[in-house]
Amino acid sequence: MKVRVDPDICIGCGICPDVAPAVFEMGTDDKAHTKIDQVPEELQAACKDAADQCPQAAIEVD
Ligand code: F3S
Repeated sequence: MKVRVDPDICIGCGICPDVAPAVFEMGTDDKAHTKIDQVPEELQAACKDAADQCPQAAIEVD
């Protein structure tokens, strides 16, 4: 599974690194960034959860 944060949409709410800290981190630009591009099996549920909870729908998974 691939994951990406759209920096034009992210408002830096901080939910995704709370939900999936192995996948997301906040950058110095106050936007979320992915720590990995390919999400391993064991992190996929948390990653999808973060995408569902993002108030901006800024997280794309496929
Ligand atoms: Fe940004 Fe959404 Fe995460 S607004 S900080 S991508 S939960």
